[in-house]
Amino acid sequence: MSRATNFPKLSRSLSICFLLLITIYAQAQRAKSPHHQGLKDVYKKYFPIGVAVALRNLHGDEAQLIKTQFNSITAENAMKMAAIQPKEGVFYWKDADSIISFAVKNGIKVRGHNLCWHEQTPDWIFKGADGKAVTKTVLLQRLKTHITTVVNRYKGKIYAWDVVNEAIDDNPNHFLRDSKWYQICGEDFIAKAFEYAHAADPAAKLYYNDYNTERPEKREQIYRLLKSLKDKGVPVDGVGFQAHWSLQEPDEGALRSAIERYSSLGLKIQITELDLSIYPWEISKRMKRPDESDVFTAELENRQVAKYAMIFKVFREYKNVITNVTFWNISDRYSWLNEFPVMGRKNYPLLFDRNLQPKKAYWEVINFKNK
Ligand code: XIL
Repeated sequence: MSRATNFPKLSRSLSICFLLLITIYAQAQRAKSPHHQGLKDVYKKYFPIGVAVALRNLHGDEAQLIKTQFNSITAENAMKMAAIQPKEGVFYWKDADSIISFAVKNGIKVRGHNLCWHEQTPDWIFKGADGKAVTKTVLLQRLKTHITTVVNRYKGKIYAWDVVNEAIDDNPNHFLRDSKWYQICGEDFIAKAFEYAHAADPAAKLYYNDYNTERPEKREQIYRLLKSLKDKGVPVDGVGFQAHWSLQEPDEGALRSAIERYSSLGLKIQITELDLSIYPWEISKRMKRPDESDVFTAELENRQVAKYAMIFKVFREYKNVITNVTFWNISDRYSWLNEFPVMGRKNYPLLFDRNLQPKKAYWEVINFKNK
């Protein structure tokens, strides 16, 4: 091939390189510019904005997005009891430690999740050597050892803990969930868990965390529990609204009533696991039905935008009691709602899409200044 035939090719490659350089430069400038602000910057005067993470999110494009947008993280699974202490006295710290180091290195706060739950709890804790249920004394001792060890390890690094998760029954005719904790200890395990956590780290803020916290019947049950803890002098600082919400609920009135009700006890509120499913709330696991569409239509997106706008408007109004807002997962690329409760049904609950690009709802959440 002659030089003459190569010249156009060369000049085309040069132009492409030039364009690429300009794009990279423009992006770098945008990243430096004060106008390029993430959620965490826009909400600086309100509350930290958090996200639930797994180890796989801590490198590559997701890590970059975390650093730009969020200033608080929660381990999605790595600090749960079954993950941390799979066998009695055998502690697995690697994943939780890596999450903590990522946070420390990047100046990000950490919420701990969680210390006592009926799920993702190892079976050994409830059983004696004979395979039978242990006594209340033994179970509380094991709970104490677990909580003391974990809270101590991350003392000063975790500023708030979900101490007890989901202890209230979904059936409004029952009060506490009929879990193994309840069967063996009665309701005492709740107060004890808070006492153990407080003794291990008196500076950490301690939360009771649950879902459907704004449905009136469940709200009243949770209120009753929190009031009884406060009356007994149990060291509880606040209530976590998991906020696994949907286009249907909560409405603005229910959200406001819940915030008012719990905060009337002098408690703080953290939004601990926020996502906005495009489907009505369900809890029992099932497979996706063949006739079920999981397309994110423009209509669904518009409803999601309106819902996100409403809830953030309310959060901002209550900034004196709301001390953190955490999303459960980073983007629609991966959400636990793709498997739960309906296996194989795609969901689109977050502010970033599969390519980690901001969705319409994102702009609605950050552009509130002139409204
Ligand atoms: C979920 C995780 O996101 C999933 O990866 C895991 O398989 C199950 O647990 N309420 C909670 C969270 O308190 O810990 C749950 O997290 C979601 C519901």
